[in-house]
Amino acid sequence: MNTRPGTTFAAACVFDAYGTLFDFSGPVARCAASLGGNAGALVALWRDKQLQYTWLRSLQGHYVPFTRVTADALDYALDALGIDDPSLRDELLTLYAVVPAFPDAARALAHLKAAGVRTFILSNGTSAMLESAVRAAGLSPLIDGVLSVEAVGVYKPDPRVYRLAVDAVGATAGRIAFVSANGWDAYAAAAFGLQTFWCNRAGQPSERLPGTPARQILSLDGLPECLGLTNEVPTTAIPEI
Ligand code: 2OP
Repeated sequence: MNTRPGTTFAAACVFDAYGTLFDFSGPVARCAASLGGNAGALVALWRDKQLQYTWLRSLQGHYVPFTRVTADALDYALDALGIDDPSLRDELLTLYAVVPAFPDAARALAHLKAAGVRTFILSNGTSAMLESAVRAAGLSPLIDGVLSVEAVGVYKPDPRVYRLAVDAVGATAGRIAFVSANGWDAYAAAAFGLQTFWCNRAGQPSERLPGTPARQILSLDGLPECLGLTNEVPTTAIPEI
């Protein structure tokens, strides 16, 4: 790997999935015609409840797979918005399995792969959900491994989740780059000791939590420079999505 002098060699780059590589608003966008003015509220409430349920279930010691959490959160959100449409509900969950990738995901992954950096996903999602999304987005050739919290039966930001990256990569935490667009996830990974880059897509304020990400970037296009990669990626290496 060609790195800029003075930058830390990363043994691998580990990505969060939802919000970072994959756009969780995609399923609602595909059903926008049926949702009318509720689409934006549904995206926000579904995501908020999904995350809250992961945190609360982890505190309670009541883990269920992310498919169940995602369905429960959707049911809550639809209920709160007064939407009673079982076929729309099923359609949204079906679409979640093929959630689209952000356009910058393939570009960044292709750049890293071309530079010889190993790439992983570390996510709350089940292995089946994540592998389905990776396949649907055409990212399979660019991802070396998918790590799911299923292996530890607890959700982010429990440190056991970030430990999965250390075990899979086989390097110390400080030599592993971790990228998340979820601020709380980036801060927790930094507190664990990973070399963390917060892809702050929405320009959110700093979190008041333990841990400090090494850098903030506005999109994944800023990642190769953070890792000190000097190679230009050939456009033929970026899959069409
Ligand atoms: C993920 O683990 C937090 O949703 C985020 O993919």
